[in-house]
Amino acid sequence: MTLYQSLSEDDRYCRFFTAHGPPRRTVEKLTKVEERGGFTLVAALTEADGSSHLVGEAGYALLPNGNGELGITVAEPARGWLGPYLLDALVEQAASRGVPNIEAQVLVVNRRMFSLLRRRGLVYLEQDEPSIAHVAIGTSGRVPTWPGGHERRRVLVEVPGGRWRSERAARKAGFEVIACPGPLGGWARCPALRGEPCPLVAGADLVVDAVPDEPGRALLEAHQRMYPSVPVCMEVPSGGNDTVPRVGRRDPDAAVVEVLQRSSKAIP
Ligand SMILES: CC(C)(COP(=O)(O)OP(=O)(O)OC[C@H]1O[C@@H](n2cnc3c(N)ncnc32)[C@H](O)[C@@H]1OP(=O)(O)O)[C@@H](O)C(=O)NCCC(=O)NCCS
Repeated sequence: MTLYQSLSEDDRYCRFFTAHGPPRRTVEKLTKVEERGGFTLVAALTEADGSSHLVGEAGYALLPNGNGELGITVAEPARGWLGPYLLDALVEQAASRGVPNIEAQVLVVNRRMFSLLRRRGLVYLEQDEPSIAHVAIGTSGRVPTWPGGHERRRVLVEVPGGRWRSERAARKAGFEVIACPGPLGGWARCPALRGEPCPLVAGADLVVDAVPDEPGRALLEAHQRMYPSVPVCMEVPSGGNDTVPRVGRRDPDAAVVEVLQRSSKAIP
């Protein structure tokens, strides 16, 4: 509780989506995640006089789809190294416990958290609120895997920035969507371009390649070479940063859904 009270209002908001609190019952729940299959690590600093206090915590609660849901806090004086250390240690623990991915709900303004996760191969899961990003990282590889069962057709979208404007329409039409912003450092570092397997492409029923120009074409070829049975659609820029599929000038979302329905594989 003292760790959370020491945070600025902005940081508390980033952690709990409320500037007050967290309420005691939330903290009590956090201390009991292990009873429900989760895991928590804490970091304590011992002073010269022998007293010690918490300077960080990182944990996950087990989600129904088998992934962990992340919570992480580092006290201001310990920032700069402790966040990455705690996250890596937590990811290692999750992998050893068979938890394939760590999901997180991150305020879109939380740049520190995005930097932390981006470096670890973040992808965007289904987005419900514009101010909060629902993201995931893998625990055993550089790329996460599809969470849970395969009840809906899966569409992997490769899109700079990780936000695909037709995501909501695709979900509404019954598709499960993951958007990959590519690795930190640019698409040239994408494992697929090095001939390495990508579990997201392997598990997809359709890939939408919305990466413009040469990197987009190279990705398309790489996927077709490694996963010839997974269909790939390419989006072309309509001007500015916007992209529309190659299917005419009517409602772009309806056109996208039509392409998805026509092109995606049936659920195995
Ligand atoms: C998010 C948090 C755990 C990160 O831990 P940390 O020890 O601060 O981590 P770092 O100092 O290594 O910063 C992480 C990244 O953000 C970058 N960063 C630091 N300050 C930044 C700033 N003001 N703006 C943008 N990026 C910043 C760092 O350079 C680093 O990026 P890199 O890995 O590419 O070098 C910590 O800042 C925190 O507790 N924040 C408040 C609670 C919170 O937001 N929890 C997450 C809820 S989902």
